[in-house]
Amino acid sequence: MTGSGREPDGESDESDESDESDESDDEEIEQAAAAAFARTAHEEGREDVTNDPLPQPLCGRAREQEVLDRLLLELREGRSRALVLRGESGVGKTALLAYLAGHGLAGRVVRTAGVETDAELAYSNLHELCAPLMDHFDRLSPAQQEALSTALGLGGGSAGHLLVGLAVLDLLAEAAVDEPLVCVVDDVQWLDGMSAAILAFVARRLDAEAVALVFAVNTTASALRPANARLLAGLPELRVEGLADEDARALLAAVLPEPADPEVLDRIVADSQGNPLALLELHRNHG
Ligand SMILES: Nc1ncnc2c1ncn2[C@@H]1O[C@H](COP(=O)(O)OP(=O)(O)OP(=O)(O)O)[C@@H](O)[C@H]1O
Ligand SMILES: [Mg+2]
Repeated sequence: MTGSGREPDGESDESDESDESDESDDEEIEQAAAAAFARTAHEEGREDVTNDPLPQPLCGRAREQEVLDRLLLELREGRSRALVLRGESGVGKTALLAYLAGHGLAGRVVRTAGVETDAELAYSNLHELCAPLMDHFDRLSPAQQEALSTALGLGGGSAGHLLVGLAVLDLLAEAAVDEPLVCVVDDVQWLDGMSAAILAFVARRLDAEAVALVFAVNTTASALRPANARLLAGLPELRVEGLADEDARALLAAVLPEPADPEVLDRIVADSQGNPLALLELHRNHG
């Protein structure tokens, strides 16, 4: 067993929380389980997401791809990595996550994404991320098994947050024994708060398990929920900015059916500030 069987130390064990707060969590946990199982059913037949082919090659992004390539190379050498992609709506964070997940070096890939309407369902994102890895569940200590299964709505018992965090850490480590594991967590701003806290905890404690935890956070003011974003403060970061002008033109060239007036193209590129989604929408409007 490579997992450390990590248990919290003495008084810091949050599993000692009062019965009252455990009870108040019950309803939330049930809701989370219902939501998570609904999603799992929706994705029936998809055990996990492994090496999806990229829908289309990315325009530009050499620097960002290099960062992700390096992360995967280090992962192959057995080093764990956490990375947070930050950028505004439509700038290309999910496209970069798809590049990562579709990479030949990525090994096994599991993922979850925040959904605005599910943000109140405690542990729903954690369930989505961990569900494909549950064949490693029996390698956890009994206390971790109880905490994790309670959190994921699979059984009654105690779900102290610290124990859940340690259980997830060990579950990921166990899953990475045979091949590196990449965990992709998109739209962090909409993760349910419990999952965000646990995943941030895990990201800070990764060591030599060959696990990568890669997050994407939307920094557009209207989408940003500071609480989740703050949880990831201090982790290694990759700022995703607009495309350079020539890359923006290449993106337009790829979607235009025929060559367009260079002045119109220049205006679209300038108006979009290199934001790929804006480029695609502006081009549609001009079309
Ligand atoms: N480098 C790129 N080359 C070509 N197309 C791109 C590139 N980056 C993004 N796109 C396309 O632009 C659109 C927006 O990108 P994406 O969904 O990745 O943005 P995002 O940062 O995840 O936005 P949000 O925060 O709203 O989720 C998508 O259609 C995507 O395929
Ligand atoms: Mg996105």
